[in-house]
Amino acid sequence: MQIPFVNLRRQYEPILPELQSSLIHLIDSNQVVGGEAVSSFESSFAQGIGVGYAISCASGTDAIEVILRAWNVGVGDEVIVPTNGWLSVAQVVCLIGATPVFVDNHPETYNLDLDSLEKKITHKTKVIIPIHLYGNPVEMKRLVKLADQSRIKVLEDCAQAHGASVDGKKVGSWGHAGIFSFYPTKNLSVLGDGGAIVTSDEELASQCRAIANYGQFKKFTCSVMGRNSRMDALQAKVVSLKLPHLNLWNQRRQQIARYYSEAWEDLPIQLPVNNDKSVWHLFVIQTNNRDGVKEKLAKCGIQTEVHYPIPVCQQPLFQKFRDSTGYANAERQAPRLLSIPLYPELTDLEVEYIAKSFRKVIERVAPSHQLDR
Ligand SMILES: Cc1ncc(COP(=O)(O)O)c(C=O)c1O
Repeated sequence: MQIPFVNLRRQYEPILPELQSSLIHLIDSNQVVGGEAVSSFESSFAQGIGVGYAISCASGTDAIEVILRAWNVGVGDEVIVPTNGWLSVAQVVCLIGATPVFVDNHPETYNLDLDSLEKKITHKTKVIIPIHLYGNPVEMKRLVKLADQSRIKVLEDCAQAHGASVDGKKVGSWGHAGIFSFYPTKNLSVLGDGGAIVTSDEELASQCRAIANYGQFKKFTCSVMGRNSRMDALQAKVVSLKLPHLNLWNQRRQQIARYYSEAWEDLPIQLPVNNDKSVWHLFVIQTNNRDGVKEKLAKCGIQTEVHYPIPVCQQPLFQKFRDSTGYANAERQAPRLLSIPLYPELTDLEVEYIAKSFRKVIERVAPSHQLDR
């Protein structure tokens, strides 16, 4: 059996006929950048999250840049980012001239460790960017309270957590703003690159919209420094067709995650925390001999990935931003992390095959149990 880490062919099956006819319709409409397809997606997306506005962008990375620019974050400002996460978050912070301040992750949730975060707040901290990593929401109530006490903005990075909620409130609606990526592997995706900003702040929304459209509040008049970061109508159509499936897709992800967790309960690995809030963008375990396990699974036809092999603060570009507090959890876990295929389109048979093959591989190549739990 061959099981790729993502299967786009299957993901597109439910929307393919409608997508084909949308394509012809779009060409006939003469409007392939912006337009009705984009605004209609933005309003459904905002409504689903429970915020006033969604502003689509060309990628999740752009969405972060646009919003930091709208907040006038720049030289002399500090932005708190997780060291366990995607590297473009810190890259954007540097790009606009601000300083990334890295925070270690909690050893079990993999998200920002809020105790460590608290110690890193200074009078220069302007924004905190919590990432809801692997689909698992950050403890937002506590984080928002911490930020409010110091008048710091919270930009939720929801690139891996479309549709997740904390205490009945969707991620993206807790902070002053949130960003999403619609990269093809995400829980909700386009056929290429795409992203969005969400917020209930009307003035911020209008500022972001202008920045992402050459700084124009009004056509042909540029009043703020801007750039081109818009969503194509085709991508808006793709993501609009997928949006009604998101909840069911996330439920299927939760079902598979429960299956893996129960099937591997007794194995000498660190399983992800049992969390009914997660939308399981990734199912990440820790094991000894990670590379051996990965190789043997590949021999069984099961493709795995590593998220992420190098903590962001260890990247050559970011070494100079490390501080003396250290990043022990992120650095200890990085060589042990392994992401197992988990997506809604996996059949029950494939899920069972993965569960059985994984058990055999662990028993053969990583039977010792010396993980720090
Ligand atoms: C947590 C996180 N933030 C930001 C991004 C950036 O999104 P994009 O790839 O759409 O630029 C990603 C994408 O991988 C991500 O996983």
